[in-house]
Amino acid sequence: MNTNHEESVVDSLSIFEEDILKGLMAANKSLPSKYFYDAKGDELFQQIMHLEEYYLTNKELEIFNSHKQGILDTISDGEPFRIIELGAGDGLKTKILLRHFMECDVDFTYTPVDISGNVLEILERNLFEEIPELKIESYQGDYFDALADISAKPEKDIVFFLGSNIGNFSHEEAVSFLSSLRKELKPSDMLFMGVDLKKDPSAILSAYNDSQGVTREFNLNLLDRINGELNGNFIREHFMHYPYYNPQTGECRSYLISTVDQEVNVAGEHIHFRAWEAIFMEISKKYDEVQLKELAEQTGFKIVDSFRDKKNWFSDVVWMNE
Ligand code: AVI
Repeated sequence: MNTNHEESVVDSLSIFEEDILKGLMAANKSLPSKYFYDAKGDELFQQIMHLEEYYLTNKELEIFNSHKQGILDTISDGEPFRIIELGAGDGLKTKILLRHFMECDVDFTYTPVDISGNVLEILERNLFEEIPELKIESYQGDYFDALADISAKPEKDIVFFLGSNIGNFSHEEAVSFLSSLRKELKPSDMLFMGVDLKKDPSAILSAYNDSQGVTREFNLNLLDRINGELNGNFIREHFMHYPYYNPQTGECRSYLISTVDQEVNVAGEHIHFRAWEAIFMEISKKYDEVQLKELAEQTGFKIVDSFRDKKNWFSDVVWMNE
């Protein structure tokens, strides 16, 4: 495994502290959703992905199962290539494609990239058991370090960014992320990206306000994390989970709302909350065809193809760096 994650625990703790305090001391309070994913957060996200109401995982699975040959025909020209998967997780969905490509005797290498060495070790072990012939070269570290290091190699790269992870960026952040990503690619390299689409707002809202309250826990877990790691004293009962979907922008935004006037201490700072003041926690943006076309244009990608589930709820787009 290639290990580039050299940030010391102390450094990353102070960045965490800085980000959290910056968000809580702003006029409009917010917390970065990237910090949802500690060990408990990972576990809760796994549970979310198995919820009936959280349709995103099943829709992308359906696309992979029903379009695996079409996807292969689109990304491969018969020459060896490399799949670089950003934020590989447990690889549940990707395995469907990897297995199919192996059965078709395709010459490719799979490079999962993740910040967590633990995630990569489990994935590698699991893939070795399930698809022993697969060529796998994982990379632990930051996405952009990975792309800079890996895409310099001669074979064609296909960057996988699945599961609507792009939705967790605002429009401006998505443009900046995808533009920077494209600059790391060689001509003809491709992006294969999972995007959640606009649909009946009630289906979207249920995905982020599930009946079992797992998504609520997922949000509140960040308050627990702050209590544990930054000497905080949030009382979770004093906050309510409130997701809100705007059908015009396609933005589903989650908030934790303070139900009382209260003061919370975090890392030695006193944070005042007025009753009903909100903390913006996460954006999960949904796209339509026109917005996707604009996004490709704004980031310099050429649209090659896209694959959808039967209900048109989710799309995996294939874009190329010209
Ligand atoms: C990881 N990401 C694409 C998820 C989403 O749908 O925005 C995270 C999530 N938040 C609440 N439920 C799932």
